[in-house]
Amino acid sequence: RRKIIIDTDPGQDDAAAIMMAFASPDEIEVLGLTAVAGNVPLSFTSRNVRIVCELCGRSDAAVYEGAERPLVRKPVTAEHVHGRTGLDGAELPEPVMAVRPQSAVDFIVETIMREPAGAITLCTLGPLTNVALALRKEPAIAGRVRELVMMGGGFFEGGNITPAAEFNVYVDPDAAAAVFASGMPIVMMPLDVTHQLLTRKDRVAKLAALGTRPALVLVDWLAFFERFDEEKYGSDGGPLHDPTVIAYLLRPELFSGRHCNVEIETQSELTVGMTVVDWWRVSGRQPNAMVMRNVDSDGFFDLLTERVGRL
Ligand code: BDR
Ligand code: CA
Repeated sequence: RRKIIIDTDPGQDDAAAIMMAFASPDEIEVLGLTAVAGNVPLSFTSRNVRIVCELCGRSDAAVYEGAERPLVRKPVTAEHVHGRTGLDGAELPEPVMAVRPQSAVDFIVETIMREPAGAITLCTLGPLTNVALALRKEPAIAGRVRELVMMGGGFFEGGNITPAAEFNVYVDPDAAAAVFASGMPIVMMPLDVTHQLLTRKDRVAKLAALGTRPALVLVDWLAFFERFDEEKYGSDGGPLHDPTVIAYLLRPELFSGRHCNVEIETQSELTVGMTVVDWWRVSGRQPNAMVMRNVDSDGFFDLLTERVGRL
């Protein structure tokens, strides 16, 4: 059973990831969830994490608040995709559960330093600000995590917020650069993978057929989330990014990729936030991440549906 910390900026796709994690207690123990500013400001992401916990019947979960803004750059948000609250699409009660008083950064550091080396998997679904701050506070965490599994970046697929950059890395490229330079074992789920996971009507219909409240709320969230890609690109559904991180923990064989070097562009106006992936190993730089490129999309949606059905 993996002990994990979920660092997140919900986000309807973050919500789906958190739901999958809570639905998988045999394989995953969620030690805590840390909110970060990303899709929407921290006040909303913190609220949204707790809404998802309560939807899953997990008001006992430990939720912490982290960074309100990126390390260096000005905040960038994505209300155009996720709505004003970040979790538009379903009417849910405001959360009752409170956040824990400890800061997200202290929780991350203390948990990784307390647990045996190799015990903790960090799962990041948003900008990497909290993890970078934790590394700054205690660089030794890099050598103690089992791995960091992150949704972020894009290479052959390009970017989704600029032509070169994916949103999570773009929002805090300085944090991403610190994480990729830290020596932490990294598994990266880029747009190259997540753009293969469209929430097609036939797939959403299987979720709706579960008929449970969590499943129906997720269907409503996805209907809101999809409309951005459907209107802009005419696609059948939108790309379900963040649940890839949890799916990887449950069924790594769904994914394939290559261990290679990744560097983060932090300077160029044109390409800031770009994940420069040395797929062909031409740079001579040391591999620092397992970069995924392909996914068994039907296998992924079967897993998602089966897990959400357990809630
Ligand atoms: C990432 O950005 C956010 O909008 C999503 O929640 C996901 O984490 C995709 O680029
Ligand atoms: Ca996210």
